[in-house]
Amino acid sequence: MANQIYKQIISFLLCVLLIQYNIVSSVQKSFSLEKPCKHFVFYFHNIAYDEDNAANATSSTILNPMGLGDFSFGKLVIVDNPVTMDQNYLSKPVARAQGFFFYTGKTNFNSWVSWTLVFNSTQHKGTMTIMGANPIMESTRVLSIVGGTGDFLMTRGIAMFTTDLIQGNKYFRLKIDIKLYECYY
Ligand SMILES: *[C@@H]1O[C@H](CO)[C@@H](O)[C@H](O)[C@H]1NC(C)=O
Ligand SMILES: *[C@@H]1O[C@H](CO)[C@@H](O)[C@H](O)[C@H]1NC(C)=O
Repeated sequence: MANQIYKQIISFLLCVLLIQYNIVSSVQKSFSLEKPCKHFVFYFHNIAYDEDNAANATSSTILNPMGLGDFSFGKLVIVDNPVTMDQNYLSKPVARAQGFFFYTGKTNFNSWVSWTLVFNSTQHKGTMTIMGANPIMESTRVLSIVGGTGDFLMTRGIAMFTTDLIQGNKYFRLKIDIKLYECYY
């Protein structure tokens, strides 16, 4: 009998130790910023609709409130933009960036982005969703990759945006450097 109680106490203590170990190890789980599990460099091409280029345009301003200062505050743009491996917007896209962005600065240019990169090629099938503040006046910005599907199921990481080229209101190109830190495939 005493032996039984003794055994129970021991196994109880072992359980407590195991639980504590799990809590501590999940908090201490770390990764190296230098060692992403996947790394991609893409170019994002925004060809704005200007009423004359319906065949060519890949993005459209759907809301543009007037009189709120000089920084497009409130302007909302829907995109279905090609994403390529190089700077040529006519190169075969590896993905499309589908979603929207809007301008959020009243006293300077600032924006906020929500895009899903949709991959549908022999190389990659799946999606990756990028979301976050995109302060476009800074030369590089880091946004969150908040999740994914398919080849990128449940991924997380960061996307570093660099403005590569701006041609007036008609076209801009971003370099998007993606580092994933959670990969299941
Ligand atoms: C398509 O857009 C590009 C970039 O703005 C422009 O250089 C080109 O002339 C356009 N092509 C047509 C057919 O409109
Ligand atoms: C993906 O590509 C396949 C083959 O080209 C096509 O049949 C399918 O409709 C595409 N899916 C999407 C979501 O674009």
